[in-house]
Amino acid sequence: MWASAVLLVLLGSFGANALDNGLARTPPMGWLAWERFRCNVNCTADPKNCVSEKLFMEMADRLVEDGYKDAGYEYVNIDDCWMAKQRDANNKLYADPERFPSGIKGLADYIHSKGLKLGIYTAYGNFTCQGYPASGMHLELDAQTFAEWGVDMLKMDGCKQMDRHTMKKGYPQMTKYLNATGRPILFSCSWPDYERGAGIPINYTLVAENCNIWRNYVDIQDSWQSVLSIIDYYAKEQDTLVPVAGPGNFNDPDMLIIGDFSLSVEQAKAQMAMWAILAAPLLMSNDLRTITPEYRDILLNKDVIAISQDNAGIMGKRVLQKTDIEIWLKPLQYYISYGLVFLNTNSTTAKIITVKLVDIGISPESRGYALHNIFNPDESIYHLSQYEEHTYYVNPASALLYNVYPSS
Ligand SMILES: *[C@@H]1O[C@H](CO)[C@@H](O)[C@H](O)[C@H]1NC(C)=O
Ligand SMILES: *[C@@H]1O[C@H](CO)[C@@H](O)[C@H](O)[C@H]1NC(C)=O
Ligand SMILES: *[C@@H]1O[C@H](CO)[C@@H](O)[C@H](O)[C@H]1NC(C)=O
Ligand SMILES: *[C@@H]1O[C@H](CO)[C@@H](O)[C@H](O)[C@H]1NC(C)=O
Repeated sequence: MWASAVLLVLLGSFGANALDNGLARTPPMGWLAWERFRCNVNCTADPKNCVSEKLFMEMADRLVEDGYKDAGYEYVNIDDCWMAKQRDANNKLYADPERFPSGIKGLADYIHSKGLKLGIYTAYGNFTCQGYPASGMHLELDAQTFAEWGVDMLKMDGCKQMDRHTMKKGYPQMTKYLNATGRPILFSCSWPDYERGAGIPINYTLVAENCNIWRNYVDIQDSWQSVLSIIDYYAKEQDTLVPVAGPGNFNDPDMLIIGDFSLSVEQAKAQMAMWAILAAPLLMSNDLRTITPEYRDILLNKDVIAISQDNAGIMGKRVLQKTDIEIWLKPLQYYISYGLVFLNTNSTTAKIITVKLVDIGISPESRGYALHNIFNPDESIYHLSQYEEHTYYVNPASALLYNVYPSS
């Protein structure tokens, strides 16, 4: 099962045809407005939280000053509702002048001056999900406009495009136009999710040739239930999704909601652990101005980020599911160490599970293994033979995350 993934990585069979813009060699990291700030456009009523250049500039400041940039978070991404309600006289998109007085170019300059990158949003079809002008009839012009502004990443949504069969043509057209601008722009596609929703077969070879990251499933909401339902989707589809992930191409289970209103600290650790195992983009959607230290520490944890950002870019798999515990395993580069998660999906009851490492896909290793407990280093296991049974205790609605490597 893993052998085929190794083979794909070695042969580069997706690599060879994958989108070749040099970007997203590891899962992209940054911040994205949508889940937290939605389409809040009334800056009179809510100046602090409305979708405006001020919001993105403040998030950029926090990324730099509070250690996120040093940890690897580099994209500052605008989502829907940034545009004026119509195009200009030359059919070009432009930002709402009251909320973005510097224009997107001015905002991009500010973001770049901080050593960060700017992401923007459009949609395939004539309107964005929230009814703003979108790119369907203007793909080439909009690609050029984004490049002129200095945009570094583009998310192209698609909910108002009713004929979803056209996406197999439209998204690849946008890929060509982005490429023709000469500016490397990381391309985030919502296309597979819309095909899934419409019951259209998804051709992931084609998706990987045209997109760096892509949404497979529904939008995340601010709830633990939403996190669990997304994880469950990736588990059920893993045999399709694991082979297409790799440097340059990643499945996107949507934003991190760590530090928002609903996840407990333990649930937040579980989301972070699972997104690392899934080789998912780490795009936070939270308020970095008010986040509390215990959530910030989770987002800045170097060991979990190292598992996410492993160079091999292998997406982990659910290898066992038993009495509400799911065991997830992500082989790291060279297949000698692993990210390992025990996720307890039961919200009220602690669970235990007894397993041997060799029974969950970890290779025999004569030295045996050390299991570094990433969020509780004091509970690390210093030596375990892969043939030895060990019992793991997992609290309700939480996860244990280990880095498993050969004992020295
Ligand atoms: C914005 O909010 C203010 C204050 O609540 C309200 O008076 C105004 O009508 C709102 N503007 C729009 C465009 O909804
Ligand atoms: C977009 O608008 C064009 C021109 O008005 C129209 O021909 C096309 O059908 C529209 N597309 C969608 C998806 O509504
Ligand atoms: C455009 O595509 C070519 C061929 O795949 C690639 O070598 C080049 O780096 C791409 N350029 C940009 C700006 O994405
Ligand atoms: C999927 O896309 C690839 C790459 O464009 C193509 O070669 C292949 O024929 C497509 N598969 C199907 C079933 O259409």
